[in-house]
Amino acid sequence: MDYFQQGLKIEYKGDADLVTAADRASEALIRDRVSKQFPTHDVLGEEQGLKDSGSEYRWYVDPLDGTTNFAHGFPVFCVSLALEHRTGNEGKRIAGVVYDPTRDELFSAEQGRGAQLNGKPIHVSKIGQLKECLVSTGFPSHKRHKNPNIFFYHQITLRTHGVRRAGSAALDLCNVASSRFEGFWEFNLNPWDTAAGVLIVEEAGGKVSRFDGSAFQLDSRETLASNGLVHDALVHEFQEIFAGRGLDPLPDPRAYQR
Ligand code: IPD
Ligand code: CA
Ligand code: CA
Repeated sequence: MDYFQQGLKIEYKGDADLVTAADRASEALIRDRVSKQFPTHDVLGEEQGLKDSGSEYRWYVDPLDGTTNFAHGFPVFCVSLALEHRTGNEGKRIAGVVYDPTRDELFSAEQGRGAQLNGKPIHVSKIGQLKECLVSTGFPSHKRHKNPNIFFYHQITLRTHGVRRAGSAALDLCNVASSRFEGFWEFNLNPWDTAAGVLIVEEAGGKVSRFDGSAFQLDSRETLASNGLVHDALVHEFQEIFAGRGLDPLPDPRAYQR
């Protein structure tokens, strides 16, 4: 928050892929704390990557999720950490935390023990009709021209109360877990974006899969989360949109002016 208030120089990792000193300082601090507390654990962080020592424990760290918001002074960002227990090449996330310092909200979950917001249990929403849902999505900051999501944004907007695009995937997932949204999807997220939020959604009673409803993996590159009740309806809409069926055509802007 100190960095946020003082305003930081924007640096570029790609065309519109931003990074700031806060991203790097946050990851350095987290690595330092984890290595002091758990010297044998491995850490995979967005800014420094992974040095794989073969530890059975691996942390997934997004030191600042929502960097574009942060860099522009828009107060929607967080820190996301997940801990995975590994056997061979298989891993199971056993704990996750997402902290939003702008609202002082700490989302947390432990495998099999539910999810909490600031220590109080949270649950996904009970809305079962897609047309009554508020959902969210996100757009990547790299390879933007290869992302088809604007088509999904348009179609799902017409079938729900609306689609929010607030700029932090980890918080989007926590907002599903705490029943503020009924669903969230995004193409091409990275493991550090989803590792904690997915566990928090599942522990809050929600569901996470690929777009066709099959099992989510950290490297799936497809994330579809929901309260569970509208999951099949969302999967159905995705199949229709991918197949080009029942699409509402984009309106002609000239028609709006008449
Ligand atoms: C980004 C945010 C954003 C999502 C992008 C991510 P970053 O993470 O989660 O909501 O749409 O795909 O890359 O770069 O701010 O850590
Ligand atoms: Ca991120
Ligand atoms: Ca980040």
